[in-house]
Amino acid sequence: MIIAPSVLTANLADLATDCREALDAGLDWLHLDIMDGNFVPNLTFGPPVIRSLREALGPDAVFDAHLMVENAEASFQDYINAGCNHISVHVEAVKHLHRLLTAIREAGATAGVVLNPGTPVEAALEVLSEVDLVLIMSVNPGFGGQSFIPNVEAKIRRLAEAISKQVAEGGRPVQIQVDGGVKAHNIAMLQDWGVSNCVVGSGLFNDRADVATNLAEIHAALQ
Ligand code: DX5
Ligand code: ZN
Repeated sequence: MIIAPSVLTANLADLATDCREALDAGLDWLHLDIMDGNFVPNLTFGPPVIRSLREALGPDAVFDAHLMVENAEASFQDYINAGCNHISVHVEAVKHLHRLLTAIREAGATAGVVLNPGTPVEAALEVLSEVDLVLIMSVNPGFGGQSFIPNVEAKIRRLAEAISKQVAEGGRPVQIQVDGGVKAHNIAMLQDWGVSNCVVGSGLFNDRADVATNLAEIHAALQ
């Protein structure tokens, strides 16, 4: 199970320090929540901040960009140029999904497709051969610290089945990532459903304990 810390719930005034804390705790993905105040009702940061973060952290961390933006066709290259290794885009915000996913991969990044809680899994199945990752939102995007929506289970199980079939037929393996309300108390259940990559925000960056302590609790839950 890959744990991808969501920096949205970190201290954005001291982003590099919090990211370094996560990397020092043994995590190598950083989940970057890009919000445009349009597709979602919140604004975070864009390519200049990510470029500075890349310079501060060096080349090793996997920068996993979750683009919650309109017209990602126009901006995805800026995120790759700023140092992102992986780009995920929302089916609800993209006009020509297949074309965009191909363009992301041609530009040298890995590509992911994201489904909001109200979006059927079929939208991802149509492009399953074109992606490295499918991100299932288990909250409505826009804010950290929301509660996990349990009825994503059926969607995740269907997706896991479709990926197994694709791999059995010699097709590409695809990670299933879940984002929103993932904590030590529900992460083992997600693993059972077939999830291989969990975004964790408030479950890692909270006031109760440091990242390493919270991560140890998550690892204990996964055993
Ligand atoms: C929500 C973001 C998530 C979120 C995760 O729009 O995509 O990455 O901040 O935070 P928690 O784990 O607190 O739900
Ligand atoms: Zn996210």
